[in-house]
Amino acid sequence: MDTIQAPIIAVIGDVIRQHPGTISLGQGVVHYGPPQAALDAARAALPQPETHEYQDGAGIPQLLAAIDAKLRRDNGIDRRNGLRVMVTAGGNMAFVHAILAITQPGDEVILPVPFYFNHEMAIQMADCTAVLVPTDERYQLNPDAIRRAITPRTRAIVTVTPNNPTGAVFPEEALREVNDLCARHGLFHISDEVYEYFTYGSARHASPGAFDGAHEHTISLFSLSKAYGFAGWRIGYMAYPERLHDAIAKVQDTVLVCPPVLSQIAAVAAMEAGPAYCRQYLQSFAEVRDIVLSELRALEPLCTVPPADGAFYCFLRVNARADPMAIAERLIREHRVAIVPGDAFGATDGCYFRIAYGALQKATVAEGIGRLVTGLREILTGWK
Ligand SMILES: Cc1ncc(COP(=O)(O)O)c(C=O)c1O
Repeated sequence: MDTIQAPIIAVIGDVIRQHPGTISLGQGVVHYGPPQAALDAARAALPQPETHEYQDGAGIPQLLAAIDAKLRRDNGIDRRNGLRVMVTAGGNMAFVHAILAITQPGDEVILPVPFYFNHEMAIQMADCTAVLVPTDERYQLNPDAIRRAITPRTRAIVTVTPNNPTGAVFPEEALREVNDLCARHGLFHISDEVYEYFTYGSARHASPGAFDGAHEHTISLFSLSKAYGFAGWRIGYMAYPERLHDAIAKVQDTVLVCPPVLSQIAAVAAMEAGPAYCRQYLQSFAEVRDIVLSELRALEPLCTVPPADGAFYCFLRVNARADPMAIAERLIREHRVAIVPGDAFGATDGCYFRIAYGALQKATVAEGIGRLVTGLREILTGWK
């Protein structure tokens, strides 16, 4: 555990707390809460004795049925292909379940860089090695580099699309190449799709689990945290090949016993509201994103911002040799705005920052981004 990085959001959170009035572009959260129907369902379930008892480990039947229908409708993933579904306490737990189920100590898991930090942390906690493979200058997958990183100890390749921390959306062809590589080399493709509904412009989300033959080796991870403003309710789920079920059921029973019942009841109602619930906010996300990207592009050539067509992040590259943590601290102390240093995401070949705009609304974006642009310009000009 000593060799594993400390959760960066908590580290930055501590500095923010010492500097009241800081606008956080740090944490990946949305600015809205759950659908009213979810809250009503939870309230109605409170007096029921079953709400307070252990329930089935994989999830309550109503939620599993809602997930089945959603996987078919939105992802093209058909559970009748011999897949199993497990409800977890969020997407992070689903990833840990997957890693514990498929690896032995010493195994390798391939992570394109920048990665989602909890993925690297989970791999290391399982006493495995995260093998880091660079993406291109637009943070897109490089299937050739991934192929070259495969060794006899490789167990899985992870993709996150739409991506945290970069906002990149991986095209279907690249995901197919990765999924085929997994099929050919006997690996699992772990596909994290917690931002599946958050795409802008012409970008489209593709689910690798829907590709022909993919059900044999694809583990697909989803979450209600972002789409339904549900982060505190801790509900996610995973679809995986039947042959992993015994292992995953053991992990689930040991760690969680069963997903929180009240949260599951609320989740059924949220999923009835469906993706239309988050789509009503997507237009305003798109507008905020446009403002963020165009303001940041004004920092060129000091910084570069590659396209970010999904999720609610962009990943800024500073074109100078500078210490990202020192800059992040100065931005909070001197300019009251927080962003996350890129090394937390494995981007150590330069100075990078993740900017999260999901918590901003159009009314607050100007202030937050204004402070960031002013702060970066001042700090970086002094740095050179
Ligand atoms: C890529 C990715 N996967 C998984 C998660 C975990 O979400 P949760 O555990 O709340 O479902 C997040 C949260 O930020 C994420 O960005």
